[in-house]
Amino acid sequence: MLPADVALTPVIESDFQELRRLADRIWRQHYTGMISTAQIDHMLGSRFSDDALRTYLQTATSWLELLRVAGSAVGYCGCAVVAEEPQSLKLGQLYLLDSHRGTGLGRFMLSHIERRAENLGVHTIFLQVNKRNEAALAFYKAAGFTIRHAAIFEIGGGFVMDDYVMERQRSPQNAGKMRKTGGQRGLRRDPNDWEIYSDSPD
Ligand SMILES: CC(C)(COP(=O)(O)OP(=O)(O)OC[C@H]1O[C@@H](n2cnc3c(N)ncnc32)[C@H](O)[C@@H]1OP(=O)(O)O)[C@@H](O)C(=O)NCCC(=O)NCCS
Repeated sequence: MLPADVALTPVIESDFQELRRLADRIWRQHYTGMISTAQIDHMLGSRFSDDALRTYLQTATSWLELLRVAGSAVGYCGCAVVAEEPQSLKLGQLYLLDSHRGTGLGRFMLSHIERRAENLGVHTIFLQVNKRNEAALAFYKAAGFTIRHAAIFEIGGGFVMDDYVMERQRSPQNAGKMRKTGGQRGLRRDPNDWEIYSDSPD
């Protein structure tokens, strides 16, 4: 069951340090054994430097949010409209501490991104996932994503990502999969258009 007192809020500059620490913890726990430590260092360094985060947040078509449970940061998600596929929304990041997995928080963040796609009038959400990331593959498949193709992406420093590209079309059937956890129950919008979740008993 989704924990009580869950909130997704946009990352701001004063969150950078906390976000970096959180990403560092999640990535080292999750990706060790899947990719090399050198590659983890490289990817964390290139994605979570102050400059990289500022650029991400200053772009009008990219979004990054921190997930808090009872005030503590436990995950984050990000998405963007990217030049190579402007009619779609790219789900770039979806990460939770291992202690908080399996309680619906991943689906909660995915629903948030789906609503952003709806608001943008975008019909396809796509993402990249490491071919060996079996738990995430199972999660995305359960949410209605299918594999579009396999691809190797060069990411600098001599490293590559050996990924599947997955996609999900917006449809009433898939929307049901995204919103299984409580649907709109407990969701409200604050004036800045960020969604806050307060769990309430069924
Ligand atoms: C991927 C991730 C965000 C999913 O979040 P989560 O909170 O664990 O997932 P949920 O509890 O919302 O699960 C939703 C559904 O996905 C499926 N699912 C989730 N984890 C699964 C797993 N390990 N194996 C099989 N199915 C799984 C289930 O169908 C589940 O529904 P159910 O609980 O009703 O059976 C989270 O596991 C995570 O942070 N993983 C590590 C980081 C990562 O790999 N991120 C993706 C990078 S591309």
